[in-house]
Amino acid sequence: DTTIDLGVIPGDGIGPEVVEQGLRVLARVAGDAGLAITTTEYDLGARRYERTGEVLSDETMAELRRHDALLLGAVGDPRRVPAGVLERGLLLRLRFAFDHYVNLRPVELFPGVASPLADPGPIDFVVVREGTEGLYTGNGGALRVGTPHEVATEVSVNTAFGARRLIEHAFALAERRPRRHVTLVHKKNVLVNAGGMWQRLVDEVAAAHPDVTHDYLHVDAATIFIVTDPGRFDVIVTDNLFGDILTDLAAAITGGIGLAASGNINPDGTAPSMFEPIHGSAPDIAGQGVADPTAAILSVALMLDTLGHPGPAERIRQAVRADTAARGDAARGTAEIGDAILARLG
Ligand code: IPM
Ligand code: MN
Repeated sequence: DTTIDLGVIPGDGIGPEVVEQGLRVLARVAGDAGLAITTTEYDLGARRYERTGEVLSDETMAELRRHDALLLGAVGDPRRVPAGVLERGLLLRLRFAFDHYVNLRPVELFPGVASPLADPGPIDFVVVREGTEGLYTGNGGALRVGTPHEVATEVSVNTAFGARRLIEHAFALAERRPRRHVTLVHKKNVLVNAGGMWQRLVDEVAAAHPDVTHDYLHVDAATIFIVTDPGRFDVIVTDNLFGDILTDLAAAITGGIGLAASGNINPDGTAPSMFEPIHGSAPDIAGQGVADPTAAILSVALMLDTLGHPGPAERIRQAVRADTAARGDAARGTAEIGDAILARLG
């Protein structure tokens, strides 16, 4: 297909600033590749909530569903909306309703980027995080709230259907990568029910992929190796919360969340996938034009990959690599970085 009908949620804080640069880069590579892009903007997030009290209506959900893909900047602002309202009501609602079961988070140390690790070596792995289950489902409850006898539970939901389809996606992805290795990260020594099921499903799926090797790490040990030996990882497959935590750590060792992209992917195409930088809305630096748009630009590349346009996607990544390699220490603004990456596209 040569058209992409994109729904854009710029959101709050630095969201609109970084999305603007992502769309500039998209316009260029799409134009060169003969792809026609249409965009529809949706005013959602903290400012919208403050003004109208509305998070996300069913009508808007229906409109969003009609797009080929969604691009989201960042939502949230602690001054305007209580914690949890937008996370559950917007982000997680979209991930669950649109069945974004693959939360794809590439981890690459780009040339010239300073890692806080003394001797990082090459880092190039991808976290395949489950996106629709686990501790994020909102199963649980609160009893006797505010009393000394308060009880709070959050129940992790793991289905064989949900874990298997994610694991199959991880092995298929590993098959297309040079090192062809999958690491299951869990905590099966303690979370014996879910961990046991995940391990059995990995073993089953692995049997159908004899060319892919696999191993297992407890999540606590995985945090050690991400810091001491990140080069050992190729594809990590893990549940929703472990994946959330590991990808912040992984972003930290590869130059910070200003560079970390993510895709909330529905591989079956029954609803649009959604692409977003891992970072938040950073209200403290909003409006100053200093936010790094690279994560948003790389999220556009992930979107092009997912929509079946790997050529323009790789072109963006090459331009980002060329840009980071030449960055040096000089502070650059949001538009300046966008300009530089555009220039690197040639
Ligand atoms: C992320 C964020 C979200 C998550 C929050 C905002 C709900 O931290 O995308 O990593 O936990 O998934
Ligand atoms: Mn997170």
